[in-house]
Amino acid sequence: FEAAQAGGAVQPQPAAPAKPRQALTVLYASESGNAEALAMRTKKLAQKHGLDAKIVDFADADFAVLSKAKNIIVFASTWGEGDPPSRAVDFYTSLMSDAAPRIEGVRFAVLALGDTAYAQFCATGKAIDQRLEALGGTRAFDRVDLDLDYAKQAAEWTEKALTELAPADATGTATVVHVDFKGGAQFADDDEPQFTAESPLTGEISALVNLNGTGSTRETWHVEIAADAPGFSYLPGDAIGIVPENDPNLALALAEAVGLGADGSVVQKLRERYDVTTLSRALVENYGKLTQRTDVKALAEQKAFTEFSEDRQLVDLFETYAEKLTPEQLFSLLRPLPGRLYSVASSPRAHPGEAHLLVGAVRWASHGKTRGGVASTYFADRRKVGDPVRVYVKPNRHFRLPEDGNRPIIMIGAGTGVAPYRAFIEERVETGAGGKSWLVFGERNYTNDFLYQTEWQEHLAEGALSRIDVAFSRDQPEKIYVQQRLWEARNDLLKWVDDGAHIYVCGDEKGMARDVDVMLARVLAEAARGDDEAGRAKLKELAKAGRYQRDVY
Ligand code: 2AM
Repeated sequence: FEAAQAGGAVQPQPAAPAKPRQALTVLYASESGNAEALAMRTKKLAQKHGLDAKIVDFADADFAVLSKAKNIIVFASTWGEGDPPSRAVDFYTSLMSDAAPRIEGVRFAVLALGDTAYAQFCATGKAIDQRLEALGGTRAFDRVDLDLDYAKQAAEWTEKALTELAPADATGTATVVHVDFKGGAQFADDDEPQFTAESPLTGEISALVNLNGTGSTRETWHVEIAADAPGFSYLPGDAIGIVPENDPNLALALAEAVGLGADGSVVQKLRERYDVTTLSRALVENYGKLTQRTDVKALAEQKAFTEFSEDRQLVDLFETYAEKLTPEQLFSLLRPLPGRLYSVASSPRAHPGEAHLLVGAVRWASHGKTRGGVASTYFADRRKVGDPVRVYVKPNRHFRLPEDGNRPIIMIGAGTGVAPYRAFIEERVETGAGGKSWLVFGERNYTNDFLYQTEWQEHLAEGALSRIDVAFSRDQPEKIYVQQRLWEARNDLLKWVDDGAHIYVCGDEKGMARDVDVMLARVLAEAARGDDEAGRAKLKELAKAGRYQRDVY
């Protein structure tokens, strides 16, 4: 290997023995891939800090990973109401149990990801941080809890944490050391996407169609975006991020509520840059400090806040207390407008230079106001064909077609959860994959809500789709859901699984995916002669093998 060269003087140098490099274990608990992406970047960075890093998904971790570790960095996301990511639950539970090993002498640092819109902000990362200390570990660097706009702070934290964890005498630059990596990571690609939420690509809307029939209770938009730029690439299974703009009327109402309605540049910034909808307890707390009002401070108490925030948004807070703010004060209370993710509905092979999305319009009324989802009404109400739209790619390495095109696939989805399956089937048509495919789709009414109906029928006719089962929940007095179809078809389902099928579930977690999960375990239990435990174990085994993958929200 080459020795480092100082200045211009080239001196032949004897090859010094490489300094022993410290081992670093980068552990991550990820749902949508943010914590995973941070872990992957950290593994690369660690090299520069003189650390030999291996990366381990919570999904693959066991106690040996902990007890063998010397230095640990954890990236942990919190999901929903304070839960660990679904793939991380098992190891998280073990870690919290009495069975967890002591880790005296292990140095650790935890970065927690979360969303301040939820009460249990960063609960998973906080609990892991406390637990590693309770098990005897030494906190080498203080935890940081980050909101949706985590990118910059995460990068800074990681640099500092690595500096803390790195051996004092290692610069990592003087010698080139081969990293012998046989860790638990299983990604095929670890390329970082070129376009991100912070620097999106500006694409153009090329089609915008409401797929539901007139008179439907649903409003689901098929959106086609021309995003023809080198470096903008995605795979079926990935999500496309959208950087939306707020409703201008809402931006104006918010500005008016704090006495800034006449300031056009404030209104514009509110529309383009800030989250003007999320009402979080942290924000109320800061608003209380800023206004020095005891009634606002009292509202920041958990109980009062829960009551007030029910079906209310930020504008309701400002209207209720009607305090005048300066632009600086207002902006100091707000977080940047986060991007919104949609499972991509197209295969790039079938539609080069384009990305298609399926967007369910979210609208409701509460406390005398009509309200809407930011990104969904952005498409439905404020964009038309030819308009620009800011997009980026969010890889989803845990929702992928089988590498072997001959493997059967079972695709279960309700509502907009059908989106990635359109991409899957298109991809299989383009690659000539011969494996069987089975779609189980649920929506409310056959006549109005059969999303992509004609495309599925064509795929069926041409053999790209082998089977489709539908569950239209509101076409009869009693509800029929996708899981009922799975139960009715359980014998075939088991045959497909025996034949090596991969099972996919996409859609609402509470409104579907959870019940489907229970049903799948029940079906698998049938094969194991009715033993629930065995069914659950089989489903876990499939998940471990990458044959049960979920994209849920
Ligand atoms: P519903 O609205 O009539 O209750 C897409 O939203 C489809 O998923 C709808 O048909 C919806 O039915 C259905 N759905 C709602 N809750 C569900 C659940 N727990 N499991 C499966 N499907 C569900």
